[in-house]
Amino acid sequence: MLSKKNIEKFFLKNGYYDFGNILEKSKCTKLKNIIDENRPCNKSIFFKTKKDFKKSGRLKNYSPGEKEFNAIFNLNLNLKFIENSKNFQKAVESIVGQNYTIKKKSIIRSVPKKLHPQWVLDVTENVGRPNVNPYIKKEYQDVQYFQNIDFHQDMTRGKKFVTFYIYLDEVKKKDSPLNILQGSYKFGATHYPHYLRPSSESDYWYYSDLKKNHMKTKEVSIFGNIGKVFCFHGLILHGTKLNLSVKPRISLRYLISPDEKKIKSPFMKSFKFINGKIVENKKLKNGIYFQRLDRSADGNFLKTGSSIL
Ligand SMILES: [Fe+2]
Repeated sequence: MLSKKNIEKFFLKNGYYDFGNILEKSKCTKLKNIIDENRPCNKSIFFKTKKDFKKSGRLKNYSPGEKEFNAIFNLNLNLKFIENSKNFQKAVESIVGQNYTIKKKSIIRSVPKKLHPQWVLDVTENVGRPNVNPYIKKEYQDVQYFQNIDFHQDMTRGKKFVTFYIYLDEVKKKDSPLNILQGSYKFGATHYPHYLRPSSESDYWYYSDLKKNHMKTKEVSIFGNIGKVFCFHGLILHGTKLNLSVKPRISLRYLISPDEKKIKSPFMKSFKFINGKIVENKKLKNGIYFQRLDRSADGNFLKTGSSIL
């Protein structure tokens, strides 16, 4: 049984919550198999060479949209066993309150390093947040592919939401689990690359908002089994290491917005604990947005290095 009080206390302190395996495993496996069959993940889904990418690829609109160009809708996937299940609804309501809105849902593929063509590894080396989608052929781009992802925030435009994640695979250390920096949402929106320095104590970081505030935060990995649901605050720092297994992990990601009138939900209450802005929308003179210092004005990813690999 979920204890609302405990969930609220934990979420406000740490900015995430792990609900455990609350979905039907057999239905999750069935869904995963359908995705695997229709959207295989192997070297042949990539452009063969950098030259092919330059000729036919693009650096804009390469990720699944809310409804358009999204494999969940293109494959007509039935997700009622998730969205209409009492367990899922109660989990979501325990964080964002009732009358929530599913703003976006997408299929996430963590692509093992081994499955990337060498030319893609060369392009993405030392890029902090290498989105792999640009290098994938258009017919497969309705799934979101990732390599490693440096610590970042999901909520970058000021619109409030919580990210809910569902594992459709068993996720162990080598499978690139999500890593979360506990409590980091409390500094609000800060620019990427975020100002993080490793502590001498393993799994701890110091995080600065560059306004004199520093926090010591613990890095927590979310391991789990098929059917696990967990969520994190849109402003929490999170990321994944390189996928060193042979298995391209499949997860579902839901971005869920609250009914902002439900001010007593843990998520709405969390904004009282934030001591910065909830959006950083300054644009620099060179055309780069302050929030994404790793993107040039033409959409190219800049090499910044990464805090996690
Ligand atoms: Fe993210």
